[in-house]
Amino acid sequence: MDPLQYRQDELYIEDVPLSAVAARFDTPAYVYSASSISAAFRDFDEAFRSHDHLICYSVKANSNLGVLGLLADLGSGFDIVSGGELQRVIQAGGNPEHVVFSGVGKQAWEIQAALNAGIACFNVESLSELQLIDRIAGKLDTIAPVSIRVNPDVDPGTHPYIATGLKENKFGVPAAEAIPLYMRLAEFSNLKVIGIDCHIGSQIMELQPFITALDFVLALVDDLEQRGVVLDHIDLGGGLGVRYNDEEPIEIGTYADAILQTLGHRKHKLVFEPGRYIVANAGVLLTSVITLKSNEETRFAVVDAAMNDLIRPALYQSWQNVAAVKLRHEDSITWQIVGPVCETGDFLARNRALALREGDLVAISSAGAYGFVMSSNYNTRVRAAEIMVSGHEMQCVRERENLDDLLRLEHRFCLP
Ligand code: LLP
Repeated sequence: MDPLQYRQDELYIEDVPLSAVAARFDTPAYVYSASSISAAFRDFDEAFRSHDHLICYSVKANSNLGVLGLLADLGSGFDIVSGGELQRVIQAGGNPEHVVFSGVGKQAWEIQAALNAGIACFNVESLSELQLIDRIAGKLDTIAPVSIRVNPDVDPGTHPYIATGLKENKFGVPAAEAIPLYMRLAEFSNLKVIGIDCHIGSQIMELQPFITALDFVLALVDDLEQRGVVLDHIDLGGGLGVRYNDEEPIEIGTYADAILQTLGHRKHKLVFEPGRYIVANAGVLLTSVITLKSNEETRFAVVDAAMNDLIRPALYQSWQNVAAVKLRHEDSITWQIVGPVCETGDFLARNRALALREGDLVAISSAGAYGFVMSSNYNTRVRAAEIMVSGHEMQCVRERENLDDLLRLEHRFCLP
């Protein structure tokens, strides 16, 4: 569901004009649609209604407490990658028993916090991690539920920085080591093996890599079963791509049908870790044009958001739509949409035909996933506010930082 639409030349998110958001909360601001997030979650959930499943929303995509709370209320579980994300989930009212813990470098304090919270499963990436979790669980006199994350060596056909299931990537256990590792699990008295996990990448547009990965996982599941290791669940990670421009993403129903068909008669519970699918197209980055300037060849629209607010264009050369918040009936000109940060890599969009004047508002679309969460304070810029809209209502779910927030943890150095 696209929450954006023009009404009389004014861009709205749900029933709120974006100009009203800027008037109340200033810019730059991330603005999210609650209905759009809920609709995406429900579509995913509905697609798998015929099979036992748990959706563990991938917190890293957008970890705002307002977003997590909304998803917790819808019954979502959560995929976390740090102790910080666990704390967010708990604070947002999420159920720890529906949390899976992914990541290639879990630290002792994070494992301990997750065991104390009683999470559903650790997605384990190596023998030494198994040893560490077993040791900590032993000290806490508890049993840790674990899955092994396997690396199927599948090319997901996405940007190399976000492909994770190739054998040269740091993630997962190689094919040849998976069975021996499972067979060693009996040695650990404080571990209980409950599942298998794989996540092959993000922004995946083709069905085939998902199916190839699932076939790989199922071969292991069947092999383990013959050896007497019966698993409860299969975690297929996240990765479903969304439309940023003119891509044709996989329909959720098509994805579900293909997964269920490949699963066949097997009764294992399915776990999914979608992030982008749930939030990407639910959010925009709202920004104002500070200055319009040109040289002989190029026209720049310098806006008040920058690469520190939204790094995807600079980091992955990603394309996100830029829309004027109030349409002007004037000729469009081709602009480079750039921020105030002192780097040539600081661009948000290239070659966009827009009718713009200084002071205008523009909205950068599809910014709900991997937007605010990847922002930084580079150039000592405060991070943007985050606003959630529902119907005619808007609520601030994260205040804009101020300079005192930024400097609070720093100290002058005094020569001893
Ligand atoms: N599960 C695991 C273990 C993951 O590593 C990820 C994403 C997900 C689930 C969620 O994937 P999704 O459904 O969102 O594709 N910053 C990049 C994307 C990084 C993805 C990292 N892992 C971007 O802006 O494109």
